[in-house]
Amino acid sequence: MSEPVDARTLYVAGNWKMHKLRAEARAFADALEARIDELDEVDLAIAPPFTCLTEVADVLVPLGVGVLGQTAHAAPAGAFTGEVTMAMLADAGATGVLLGHSERRQLFGETDDALAEKVPAALAAGLEPILCVGETEAEREAGETETRLERQVARGLAGIAAAQLADVTVAYEPVWAIGTGRTATPELAQAAHAHIRAVLAGLFGDEAAQAVRIQYGGSVKPDNAAELFAQPDIDGGLIGGASLAVDDFAAIAAAAAPRS
Ligand code: PGA
Repeated sequence: MSEPVDARTLYVAGNWKMHKLRAEARAFADALEARIDELDEVDLAIAPPFTCLTEVADVLVPLGVGVLGQTAHAAPAGAFTGEVTMAMLADAGATGVLLGHSERRQLFGETDDALAEKVPAALAAGLEPILCVGETEAEREAGETETRLERQVARGLAGIAAAQLADVTVAYEPVWAIGTGRTATPELAQAAHAHIRAVLAGLFGDEAAQAVRIQYGGSVKPDNAAELFAQPDIDGGLIGGASLAVDDFAAIAAAAAPRS
């Protein structure tokens, strides 16, 4: 028996990328705290830069808001200048980690094989990973979207067992929609999410696949969030630019109404 769709609480995460100094991060966290009662029906997380992770976690984690690293290395320690381990993120107060964001893949050479090691390493450190997948514009135009998503999901999750999938979130982020203002239509996004869920079902079984949250990311704004989140396989969003201002982030989170 698969779980009913409404068992999935919607989950909205903000990815700050390389933005905000510590004082700005703290001001955002305090402002979100002041509004947290309005947002108690949705799961929330913020992914700040490493330098203000603890600052944000100190305020938000006690409120039940997740705090995520934006990347981390799979190894437990070593000569990897510039990298941090999963345990370091947890030690700094993180509850999870973004893995495989398209900017990491495109600009910093992150591979599916590296992600196959990072996902279990995150779980072993007690962090809940969000695995980001998505096709480029050229791949979509070439009709390769589905195979691209299949490969990213299957290879990225190659290191985990079905029982661990419950602690993993997948984010579908078409590369052509990130930071461009070109949001996927709700129909196009829904089709991609349904495909990802079918791929997960093939790999881990239907019950595990039905329980996984699949976020949509790519130019989500307060005025388009509700129609995206209303789709049956879209379980919230991964928000870049619109997560930098607390009013926009809260408006998007408020659009993630509980499913009835
Ligand atoms: P965007 O970024 O909302 O600014 O398009 C999304 C993301 O990169 O996660």
